[in-house]
Amino acid sequence: MIGYARLLVAILLGCSLSRTSFAKLPDGITGCSISLSRNEFNQCVVDKVREMTPHMMKGIPGMRLPALDPFVLPSLSIDRSLDQLVIKTNITNIQATGASNYAINEIDVDPRALTLGMKIHMPFVQVRGNYEVRGRLLLLVLNGVGAFKGNFSNIDVLVRAKGKEAVDKSGVTRVEVDKLQLKIRVGHGNIRLKSPPQHAVTADAAQAFFNANPRLVLDIASPIIEDTAATISRALAVRALSSLTKDEILLK
Ligand SMILES: *[C@@H]1O[C@H](CO)[C@@H](O)[C@H](O)[C@H]1NC(C)=O
Ligand SMILES: *[C@@H]1O[C@H](CO)[C@@H](O)[C@H](O)[C@H]1NC(C)=O
Repeated sequence: MIGYARLLVAILLGCSLSRTSFAKLPDGITGCSISLSRNEFNQCVVDKVREMTPHMMKGIPGMRLPALDPFVLPSLSIDRSLDQLVIKTNITNIQATGASNYAINEIDVDPRALTLGMKIHMPFVQVRGNYEVRGRLLLLVLNGVGAFKGNFSNIDVLVRAKGKEAVDKSGVTRVEVDKLQLKIRVGHGNIRLKSPPQHAVTADAAQAFFNANPRLVLDIASPIIEDTAATISRALAVRALSSLTKDEILLK
């Protein structure tokens, strides 16, 4: 990898409720007890995530989480130089649909070490937004503005996360995100670019190249896909965790 990396993400404040608002976790949903065995604890986490999914789709004000399906991102700027891909892009009005249709295939949580390992599968995600781009993919020049739509299928995500305890100003123990790493493999993709006439030739060429070689392009772009997804996930996790106390997440 050469050059520098820059990634800016704006996550809309879906709700500006204060930390002291009443309902944090959705009604009827609790944390998991650390007195469970490791297997029972893992199962408890899977069950809680499943129960929370319909709430997460709409957004959870008490946890400061915006709606996750569709997930709306007002803006995203990427400035990266890889060997085969140099890209400067501003993307706005991003909307991703389908992520809540995930399955957790493997999970291992250690509530004492605050570590989490998880394999997630998403069958189908649709993304759209408006872009301005400058750069190069292999020998192809990327240049222009327009609107894009993309369908991505068979997405495997490997999550590795570590939390750490922190005591806030009022003496309350919380869990903070220490590390969060994602490995993502997008199985297949198809995109459509719509561009004003002066940019139509380069947009058509980029669309044709992607759709003829989705595997190649997705592999080349995977560090950028992973960093972008990790930045967004981390921002969401930081928000959610800052609204809960450690004792609300890990029951004694
Ligand atoms: C992205 O936005 C910034 C700030 O408005 C601008 O300076 C830059 O030229 C834009 N990048 C592209 C690729 O259009
Ligand atoms: C994405 O999938 C939908 C539903 O199958 C289809 O209507 C649409 O044309 C596809 N879009 C792209 C960019 O392939």
